Amino acid sequence: MKNGKLSGKVALVTGGTSGIGKTTAIEFARAGAKVVLTGRREKEGADVVAEIEKDGGAAAFIRADVAKETDVKAMVDFTVNTYGRLDLAFNNAGVEWTGPLDQATEAEYRRVFDINVWGVLNSMRHEIPLMLKTGGGAIVNNSSVAGHVGLGQVSVYIASKHAVEGLTKSIALEFAKQNIRVNAVAPGVIATDMLDRFAGKKGEMRDSLTSIIPVGRIGAGEEIAAAVLYLCSDDAKFTTGTSLVVDGGYLAQ
Ligand SMILES: NC(=O)c1ccc[n+]([C@@H]2O[C@H](COP(=O)([O-])OP(=O)(O)OC[C@H]3O[C@@H](n4cnc5c(N)ncnc54)[C@H](O)[C@@H]3O)[C@@H](O)[C@H]2O)c1
Repeated sequence: MKNGKLSGKVALVTGGTSGIGKTTAIEFARAGAKVVLTGRREKEGADVVAEIEKDGGAAAFIRADVAKETDVKAMVDFTVNTYGRLDLAFNNAGVEWTGPLDQATEAEYRRVFDINVWGVLNSMRHEIPLMLKTGGGAIVNNSSVAGHVGLGQVSVYIASKHAVEGLTKSIALEFAKQNIRVNAVAPGVIATDMLDRFAGKKGEMRDSLTSIIPVGRIGAGEEIAAAVLYLCSDDAKFTTGTSLVVDGGYLAQ
C-alpha cells in the first residue's frame, strides 16, 4: 500500500542490489517514488526491479560501479532518459574492511577509498547538476557509526566513513542556497550480507557485536530505510549537513 509521500519524485540508489540499498529502494517505491537502482550485479538488480514492480511500484536497473567515472555518468544519464529528472539520491554502495595495521596496504586503502569515498563524491558530482535543472533535491550518503568513532583493526573502513561525514557537511554547505540538501545516515550494526562477511552468520564475533548494542539486538535494513526516507522527505526540509545516527544506542555509550 503506497502512502504517496514521495509521489512524483525520482530516486536513485547506488548499491541497490542487496542489503540496506535494496530495502531502501523498495521503501522508496512504496512511498510512491520512481526508483533507479544501480549496482554491479545484473541478475540481483533485475530481481529487485521485479520485486518492486510486483508490489505495484516503478523501478529500473543499470549496472554501474560507483568508482568509475563513465559508469556514474551513464547511471545519471540513464535516470534522466528513463524518468526525466532526479530528485532524491541514496549514495549507499560501500565495502567493509578489517585488519591489523600491517594489512592496511596501499592497494587495500585505494580499493576501499575508491568505492566508499570517491564513489560517494563521484555520485554527488553527477547527481547535483541534474537536480539543479529541476530546482533542487535531497541526497543521503550512507556513512556508519564508523564515521563517528574509532575502532581498532578497522582503520581503513573507519577513515573512509569519516571522509563520508566530511564530504556530506562540505557539499551540503556548498549547495545550501540552491535547494540541495545533503545529509548522512549513520547505521549501527545492521543485518545484511556485509555483517555476515564482517562478523559471520553466528558465533562469538556476532554475539559480541550484539552485546555492545544497548537495545540488545542487531538492527534491520528497514530501520535505516525509514531514516533515509525521512531525510529525503519535506519533513526534513530544514535539515542539511547532518548525520542521522540509527544504532540502537551504540554511540550514546
Ligand atoms: N550492515 C551494517 O552493519 C552497516 C553499518 C553501517 C554502515 N553500513 C553501510 O551500508 C552500506 C550498504 O551495506 P550493506 O550492509 O547493505 O551491505 P551489502 O554488502 O549488502 O551492500 C553493499 C552494496 O554495495 C554494492 N557495491 C559495493 N561496491 C560497489 C561499487 N564499486 N559500485 C557499485 N556498487 C557497489 C554491493 O554490491 C552491495 O549491493 C555500505 O556503505 C556500508 O558501509 C552498513
